[in-house]
Amino acid sequence: MASDGLVERVRQVYSYVLEESFEPIREPGRIVRVLRERYRLLVDERVVSLVVAAFLAGRPVLFEGPPGTGKTEIGEALLSLWAGKPAFVIPCSENYNEYRVIGDFHPLMAMRHGFSEESFIPRPLLAALVLDAGVLVDEIRRSSEEFQNLLLDVIDKRRIIVPELRTVVRARGEGFQVVFTSNPEDYGQGELSDAFLRRVVRVVFDYPSPEVEVEIVKLRYDVDVPIDDWLVARMAEVAGLLRGRATYKPGPSDTVMWARIAGRLAKLRGHSRVDVRDVVDAASIVLYKRVGEEELVDEAVSRVFGQV
Ligand SMILES: Nc1ncnc2c1ncn2[C@@H]1O[C@H](COP(=O)(O)OP(=O)(O)OP(=O)(O)O)[C@@H](O)[C@H]1O
Ligand SMILES: [Mg+2]
Repeated sequence: MASDGLVERVRQVYSYVLEESFEPIREPGRIVRVLRERYRLLVDERVVSLVVAAFLAGRPVLFEGPPGTGKTEIGEALLSLWAGKPAFVIPCSENYNEYRVIGDFHPLMAMRHGFSEESFIPRPLLAALVLDAGVLVDEIRRSSEEFQNLLLDVIDKRRIIVPELRTVVRARGEGFQVVFTSNPEDYGQGELSDAFLRRVVRVVFDYPSPEVEVEIVKLRYDVDVPIDDWLVARMAEVAGLLRGRATYKPGPSDTVMWARIAGRLAKLRGHSRVDVRDVVDAASIVLYKRVGEEELVDEAVSRVFGQV
């Protein structure tokens, strides 16, 4: 069977990807600007250039680092800009297998039409290959080694075989790239094999400096009650203290949420600017994560903001 029917089927099922396509953006300086303006993501040009270099070499990239540092969102946005169309996201879990990422057959349709294109349901990895789009494989450590090997085989050969359809589908351009994310410190995470690590390039994420964290919070702040820079700087300081002490380490994602909730609280209270009370009250719902660590949070907050 020619692969044309399969290609047509993918285009039909994932028509939104083509409808939402745009001119790819591949120059690092421009990517940095678009990430900031369109995606509200603050990313270092060095990181962007490294990822672009890896894509040019056709190598998948592993983003590794602590939670809430933007790995997933930055990966998805970079892949989308590079390909000029929305990236596919594969959220990993233990029982992920080829049927979930390449495709499977609708049981009733297969009984009626046999294993044919009409009964075939293409899944994200195959769709990305056909549509020349990127794939974000989120939390790769949660998947089995067998699944990782399957992905690496597809990435290396840039083709997928669907035996039931007697079809081979090949990548059509450079848009098909893969970013993996992983957080080695998370609970219940497996190890990545040497074979896996040999094939990917690894970009290490870390918590941003306090200055950058302030920038991130301001970029993401979405309330019409202004929040002063000095307040945000102190919030970043609290987050920094907790990263050194608590088992739940707040990421920039938590600092962003903290500011957004403090802003809304200020608005409900009719304040014209966010004040210390709003920030401290919001801390109690945003930063209290693990039972038994409330005191640690209170301590860090009062150390930075004083007793309120
Ligand atoms: N560099 C950044 N620019 C803008 N926002 C950021 C950045 N880093 C973190 N954030 C904030 O964190 C959120 C995204 O975090 P994301 O889920 O991508 O992180 P992650 O590293 O994948 O975390 P996890 O390990 O928990 O999956 C954003 O919605 C934003 O609020
Ligand atoms: Mg993530």
